[in-house]
Amino acid sequence: MPKSKVLVTGGSGFIGSGLVRGLLAQGHHVRVFDNNSRGTLENLHDILDQIEFVEGDIRHPEAVDAAVAGMEVVFHLAFINGTQYFYQYPKLVLDVGIRGHLNISDSVAKTDSVHTFVFASSSEIYQSPNIIPTPENISGSIPDISNPRYSYAGSKLLGEILTSHYLEREGLKKIIFRPHNIYGPAMGFKHVIPQLAKKIVDATQGFTQNAGSITLQGDGLETRAFCYIEDAVAGTLLAAFQGEAGQTYNVGREDEISMADLARAMAGIYGVQLTLKTSPKAPGGTPRRCPDVAKLRALGYTPRVSLKEGLQPTLSWYKNYYLRNLKNEAL
Ligand SMILES: NC(=O)c1ccc[n+]([C@@H]2O[C@H](COP(=O)([O-])OP(=O)(O)OC[C@H]3O[C@@H](n4cnc5c(N)ncnc54)[C@H](O)[C@@H]3O)[C@@H](O)[C@H]2O)c1
Repeated sequence: MPKSKVLVTGGSGFIGSGLVRGLLAQGHHVRVFDNNSRGTLENLHDILDQIEFVEGDIRHPEAVDAAVAGMEVVFHLAFINGTQYFYQYPKLVLDVGIRGHLNISDSVAKTDSVHTFVFASSSEIYQSPNIIPTPENISGSIPDISNPRYSYAGSKLLGEILTSHYLEREGLKKIIFRPHNIYGPAMGFKHVIPQLAKKIVDATQGFTQNAGSITLQGDGLETRAFCYIEDAVAGTLLAAFQGEAGQTYNVGREDEISMADLARAMAGIYGVQLTLKTSPKAPGGTPRRCPDVAKLRALGYTPRVSLKEGLQPTLSWYKNYYLRNLKNEAL
């Protein structure tokens, strides 16, 4: 495979930093553009001397132009992620999502060296699909414009439309990928796995007790299909470099698990007994989500890490993190 100069926006975030590692392993030259609002250089600490890091905001066109200059492949991941933020900061989500997309598109359109543009969309655009596992040709939708949650899915849908119809340059290859519940160590704190880990830490008083009770958001029957970061990176690289121009690829795994079973599996790994309580669902939550990844599999994708295998390092990272913080709080 030819080696390229690759820009990753959002490259100090969770998926971005994994992607940067995957790109380096393939021998590419990597430049990261991020404002470190959610990501951190800590995620790149062991490879900082192998990459270019440019600190900047995707909403500032001059900064984006400078970051895109001289690049051949652009992965656009910079976004406000994390469900809680969609409810709390919908204006920011839209500003980063849409203004950011217009800026990166304008820069790529006028930078002749860029031959490939890859946009990180999301499983959230499917909402509550009637086909599960869900293939890429199921249409995206926004069920309730008045619900701030959809600031995110709305920005992703518009991002896909902008990628397809606003960003135009002769010969430019464009790929959209839709990650589905990617997890791993240091994945952030606004997702279900770290939130459940925190609830288990609190319920067992920092594992000083071997039993406790936690409250799930919703009835515990909601399902998701989780995909370990290394598999997600492999899938994203395949879609970007082997995928067909103009195509969209789901990135994930096809094993659905309910939130109650996830909590039980996590309790098993932590070696504690959990009593599960339920609570009202957040408005706009989706009952089931699971991707059909046949299109990516046809490119050679084989996810290798089972949920049980991937949860081990992830839960150990969060256990260490939360226990360290408990200790600091006690000081
Ligand atoms: N994690 C998942 O399961 C998942 C699922 C679907 C889609 N995605 C998408 O994949 C991408 C990466 O997700 P992630 O989980 O790594 O999230 P993340 O929050 O860890 O990474 C996003 C990065 O964007 C950066 N960023 C935010 N605002 C910025 C701005 N104004 N200018 C420059 N950089 C900015 C953040 O600092 C962060 O490093 C995002 O586009 C996200 O929407 C992720």
